[in-house]
Amino acid sequence: MTSCRICGGRLHEFGDFGTQPLSSGFLEPDYIGDEYLFRLALGVCDSCTMVQLMEEVPRHLMFNGHYPYLSSGSSVMRKHFERTAQDFLRTELTAPGAFAVELGCNDGIMLRALADAGVRHLGVEPSESVADIARRLGIRVTTEFFQASTAREIREAEGPAKLIYAANTLCHIPYMESIFQGIDALLAPDGVFVFEDPYLADIVEKTSYDQIYDEHYYFFSVTSVAAMAERFGFELVGVERLPVHGGEVRYTLARRGRRTPAPAVAQLLAEEKTRRLAEFDTLQGFFRNVERSRDELVSLLRKLKAEGCTVVGYGATAKSATVTNYCGIGPETVSFISDTTPNKQGRLTPGAHIPVRPRAAFEDPYPDYALLFAWNHAEEIIAKETRFRESGGKWILYVPHVRVV
Ligand code: SAH
Ligand code: TMP
Ligand code: ZN
Repeated sequence: MTSCRICGGRLHEFGDFGTQPLSSGFLEPDYIGDEYLFRLALGVCDSCTMVQLMEEVPRHLMFNGHYPYLSSGSSVMRKHFERTAQDFLRTELTAPGAFAVELGCNDGIMLRALADAGVRHLGVEPSESVADIARRLGIRVTTEFFQASTAREIREAEGPAKLIYAANTLCHIPYMESIFQGIDALLAPDGVFVFEDPYLADIVEKTSYDQIYDEHYYFFSVTSVAAMAERFGFELVGVERLPVHGGEVRYTLARRGRRTPAPAVAQLLAEEKTRRLAEFDTLQGFFRNVERSRDELVSLLRKLKAEGCTVVGYGATAKSATVTNYCGIGPETVSFISDTTPNKQGRLTPGAHIPVRPRAAFEDPYPDYALLFAWNHAEEIIAKETRFRESGGKWILYVPHVRVV
């Protein structure tokens, strides 16, 4: 694309990661076919400031019956979504019979708590692999992509929604006009659309370039989300910075004029302006930091290998696809990646072809170094892997900068 998927404005490219595979495209070990590849590059719209991918990967290649990611894989995230549900029960969902819809409900991590509280709900989740898990928990899920037509069908069958929620899902969806037509069709007049996604300011500040991969199409800022909301007839009325997944923002949208925007909206808008977040120079500077981070990680790994140290990866995240393929890290450098997700284990990572093994392999025996690809869960993981440290093992982190701890 050379024009913005939100407003049609001109896109200015500022970073290119070269060809990359599907970030969740884990392969059978005997796989010999070609992998799907695309050019992973980023641009910024000179009109609405939305940062976005230059190329779009067809959605059915990413979100289907093989989608492996399980939201419940982290105890911190389980708590985060439990708390989120409790907040909604206290605020938006107090009216009897209030209807709540979640886009990308995955394995039901959030809807579970609403269902337990007796709230009328529906999850919209196109990946059958994870939708099935939610369904087995007794959660109502439709296995579809949310878009205008899906929303109209839901509105017809269920009535208007007081709350539409999407965590780490809206940024995955390029076709935003259809999404907002759907929100307009489904949302009650006084309802809210709440979504949370990685925050561009955190990515730039922490050089967390691994947030950039096929599934993450947009990199939201308060400035670009405010413009997007307005374009589609809504208004940004709330923002909250969240510590999860390396730094996110939770945005609350209402129909235009229905709610008074919280002071935090103007505050974050002003902050973004002061730091020149959406300006081309800033983003080019970010990409220079990305290149430096890559070079530092590559030389560290080279040095450790020359010293004869063993290095394994921890967390076969979707994010790690960008790191391994951009830095040229393969099984000769990182012998395997330990991961708790059943549908990743026994497979090879996309592009780099590093074997994924269950957690038990990590201590059998402990390696000298563990490259923490799941750095966003660092606190949780380092706290539970104390024996690795005691055995003399060290963690390699690359966000916000490359270091050994
Ligand atoms: N909300 C969960 C899952 C995030 S992963 C969490 O925060 O952990 C993103 C999810 O969005 C995937 O499960 C994917 O299948 C789903 N998704 C992708 N496109 C979608 C669409 N158009 N409508 C609804 N869900 C979608
Ligand atoms: P995420 O960063 O996209 O949430 O992915 C985290 C990945 O790391 C996921 O594949 C599960 C895995 N993981 C572990 O293997 N052990 C852990 O303790 C945690 C929290 C995650
Ligand atoms: Zn634009």
